[in-house]
Amino acid sequence: MYQVLKSKPNYIGKVRDVFEIEENLILVSTDRISAFDVVFSEVIQGKGLVLNQVSLAWFEFFKDIPNHIIESDSTKYPEPYNKEPWLKDRSVLVKKCKRIDYECVVRGYLSGSAYKEYAKTGQIAFKNYPSGFKESSKLPEPIFTPARKNDSGHDENISEDTLRSEIGNELFTQLKQTSIHLYSEASRVIESEGLILCDTKFEFGLDDGKLILIDELLTPDSSRYWEKETYREGSSPPSLDKQILRNYLETLTWDKNPPAPSLPQNIQDEILEKYKILEKRITKCISQK
Ligand SMILES: Nc1ncnc2c1ncn2[C@@H]1O[C@H](COP(=O)(O)OP(=O)(O)O)[C@@H](O)[C@H]1O
Ligand SMILES: [Mg+2]
Repeated sequence: MYQVLKSKPNYIGKVRDVFEIEENLILVSTDRISAFDVVFSEVIQGKGLVLNQVSLAWFEFFKDIPNHIIESDSTKYPEPYNKEPWLKDRSVLVKKCKRIDYECVVRGYLSGSAYKEYAKTGQIAFKNYPSGFKESSKLPEPIFTPARKNDSGHDENISEDTLRSEIGNELFTQLKQTSIHLYSEASRVIESEGLILCDTKFEFGLDDGKLILIDELLTPDSSRYWEKETYREGSSPPSLDKQILRNYLETLTWDKNPPAPSLPQNIQDEILEKYKILEKRITKCISQK
């Protein structure tokens, strides 16, 4: 891994290593993989490169929305980070922000935990919905389903009203509108490649009081991507993202608490293969716009 850098990362996240450099951060997408907030001991070689490139392509596409990116060419980072081969193509230099400690999730289709909740209670994110939706049904319009970020343990789903009361109506409206806009535009763009964006999550920060988009953007770690060709309402379509891992884990008796089970080589290979296919198709359709 790090060959030149002597210092350790200031923060080791589930997937990213973070170095603090005064007002900025270097976010390094490692090859680690996590599911249900548990990190696996296996690494998927090359996964971090894909994540970083997909995220950068989307940040470039949405450049009109203020974001945290300062530099993606690691040879232009301050010394000694510019000399570190491990940072090349898998890291970004970003503006360090006051993070808004909520995940801004947008769902266009009913999948995962939201489907489970709906099937059990008829509700999605604390709101009642008519009966008749199936697994993977397209929702009448994209919905905003925020979650509170918890430093330890799992993030906690909260209602729009709770979020509004905790951060104020003005910031709430900005987060919701920007999130829905990002989801809708991204969905529209990838349609030409036969891709569907089922759901995704965004993170935002405040920089001198101004709202900016931070973290990773529309990556296969933070989003569910499906293919139109294999999409069927009433079933869970094959996906080009981390769902491959979650589906495998559901076949085990693992209780989703650490330690993580071991990951068979064929699952590791499939994840990398699908991530690479996604990278190719997303960069292709973005570059044509
Ligand atoms: N511009 C930024 N300013 C401050 N924090 C950021 C910024 N961009 C991303 N982050 C944070 O950096 C961390 C990235 O590491 P990650 O592996 O995603 O960690 P986690 O396990 O917390 O999800 C996250 O906690 C994310 O919220
Ligand atoms: Mg994260």
